[in-house]
Amino acid sequence: MKIIHTVKEMQSYADHQKMDGRVLGLVPTMGSLHEGHLSLVRRAKEVANHITVTIFVNPTQFGPNEDFETYPRDFDRDCRLLQEVGGVDVVFAPNTSTFYEGGVEQNKIWITCPEMTRYLCGNSRPGHFDGVLTVVMKLFAACKPHVSIFGLKDIQQYMLLKKMVHDLSLDIKIIGAQTVREPSGLAYSSRNNNLRLQERRQAEVLSHAVTSAVKMIETGQGTPSSVIDIMEETIGSAPLAKLQYAEIVAADTLHPVDEFTPGMQVIAAVSVNFRDIRLIDNAITVVPLA
Ligand code: PAF
Repeated sequence: MKIIHTVKEMQSYADHQKMDGRVLGLVPTMGSLHEGHLSLVRRAKEVANHITVTIFVNPTQFGPNEDFETYPRDFDRDCRLLQEVGGVDVVFAPNTSTFYEGGVEQNKIWITCPEMTRYLCGNSRPGHFDGVLTVVMKLFAACKPHVSIFGLKDIQQYMLLKKMVHDLSLDIKIIGAQTVREPSGLAYSSRNNNLRLQERRQAEVLSHAVTSAVKMIETGQGTPSSVIDIMEETIGSAPLAKLQYAEIVAADTLHPVDEFTPGMQVIAAVSVNFRDIRLIDNAITVVPLA
């Protein structure tokens, strides 16, 4: 497994692999790898025969009061896990000051999509998705993938990246991989490592909330607002959880829905804080035909 730190080396390495006829798969991560990331690597191996994993804690997607400094980092452990899972050819791990050449302040071009970042996490994290879209575009430019895999736990990120690739006519296929969960239902997240024992137990409410929402929608019970009430009630049963949002949005636009119409694809999404640790979860479903 080769480790590359500079864009130039990564680009020329990717060019050579392409000339040798390889299909390049990319799994972008911020490190602190867990079973969710490893499942992205496994999915990448099904669709590509050369795999790059990027490890870069991207400062531009953290707000001023967010957890950039305390975001868990352990590069050696990450590399060990990738060796164990096997089939990873390259780890691309740039330094902030070289990746954003001359520092973040020198970066003057940003990719934004106000239309799809008004709701869900975009609403309470101004600038977050500009940082994500821009860094992923930079990672694409460095690693030159044919296909890139993203977890559906970050559903808004996934939808935005699909839109970016479409609107900018990038010749890259975006694949969404199912959320991987602990036996309790809690979705794997690097931030779970920072939870205290009681918080971790109570964090199960996120998956309970979206599962209950999906059940209600699929059995034709209730309106979007009554489904949201149930999600809020479920989160409310965890005393340490502070609700950020519980929303039902249309899967194509990410705009809140006022009523369910048959055949409509919707997302039930929640975000909760345990102290300053932000967790999210969601489930996608289709409103049944009458
Ligand atoms: O999902 C993540 O880990 C990050 O948002 C990503 C896509 C690696 C960009 O920094």
